[in-house]
Amino acid sequence: MKSIAEKLANDVIADAVITVPAHFSDSRREATMEAGRQAGLNVLQLMNEPTAAAVAYVYEKKINTESAGKNIMVFDLGGNTLDVLIITLDSGSLLVRKVKGDSDLGGVDFDSNLIRYVAEKHRLKTGCNVLGGENEKMFPRLREAIVTAKHTLSTQDEADIELYINDVDLNQSILRSEFERVNEELFQKCMFRVEIALRGAKMTSQDISEVILAGGSTRIKRVHELLQQFFGRAPLSVVHPDEVVAHGAAVQAAFLSKLVIEKHKPKVPVCNVNPKSIGVMRSLGEMSVLIPKNSPLPAKGELEVECAYDYAGGCAGWGGPLGSVGSGGGAWGGCGQCGERRRCLGGELWANTPDET
Ligand SMILES: Nc1ncnc2c1ncn2[C@@H]1O[C@H](COP(=O)(O)OP(=O)(O)OP(=O)(O)O)[C@@H](O)[C@H]1O
Ligand SMILES: [Mg+2]
Repeated sequence: MKSIAEKLANDVIADAVITVPAHFSDSRREATMEAGRQAGLNVLQLMNEPTAAAVAYVYEKKINTESAGKNIMVFDLGGNTLDVLIITLDSGSLLVRKVKGDSDLGGVDFDSNLIRYVAEKHRLKTGCNVLGGENEKMFPRLREAIVTAKHTLSTQDEADIELYINDVDLNQSILRSEFERVNEELFQKCMFRVEIALRGAKMTSQDISEVILAGGSTRIKRVHELLQQFFGRAPLSVVHPDEVVAHGAAVQAAFLSKLVIEKHKPKVPVCNVNPKSIGVMRSLGEMSVLIPKNSPLPAKGELEVECAYDYAGGCAGWGGPLGSVGSGGGAWGGCGQCGERRRCLGGELWANTPDET
């Protein structure tokens, strides 16, 4: 990627802002930072993709930032993930309020449903299972043809699939209504994520002034339709959904880089939130939350704890590259008090232990 960018820019690329899905865990963020470093980049910041999309819209003046307290939703549906982000505009700066993500919902899921549907139609017509036995070899080309058909259905009502491999002749026309029918459950799941994000931010659809689209899968007509029905206004895609994240990251890179002189720096200040709760692991395995998820960053937390036994200690840590977070002791990142999918963030703390004498 670095050499592609250098070829295009005809210059050396030293600094970079790298974007990641908003709900990425701390370990994935660390691994991304490390990958950037190994590629020889000075990573200025990891930025959440939907936040970058919002920065691009503000920078391009495609949303009116004048009215303070205005709420924007970014709906980012890519190849594998969905991120829903609610941002409040506060006199020109962006205050991230709520992040809701699904790491298992994206374009490939629509593709898989369509592949199964087309294969079943072919089996009923010819008796031949294109997904089984020897025919498995044709799967990559079948997937490719299905993805092309899906893209066509974003602008047309019908798409043709024509494949001839190993004596299998697969010839079908797919209607947009068929594509929508086989994926309706997934589209509803997307809208459910929108509702959860709103509920988490204690808002209703009426509180959102604009919906910004990011990610290739937001070109699907049904996605537009459902968002328009729900919010009563068309979602915005004036900054190209394929480029909007990179656009916002470039704006942020110019803001952070020492190579850009002060008076040319774009100013779109962003206040992020931590995507997962950070807390202290206590006896019996429960976690006391120090900094609840969706707290504005940087954040500090304090907690008074008693030793369960003499010389008991714990580990302390930080919330990772998203923003440093001070903690009181035994810091863990996870999904709150439920105790699942928690991860020790590292470090060690011994405090108020009795005198050994
Ligand atoms: N015209 C189109 N109509 C429907 N889907 C499209 C269209 N163009 C691209 N896509 C889909 O968009 C997806 C890729 O989107 P994008 O490039 O935003 O994903 P990504 O950022 O790589 O993935 P993620 O954000 O999930 O990590 C693919 O599933 C692709 O098939
Ligand atoms: Mg993406």
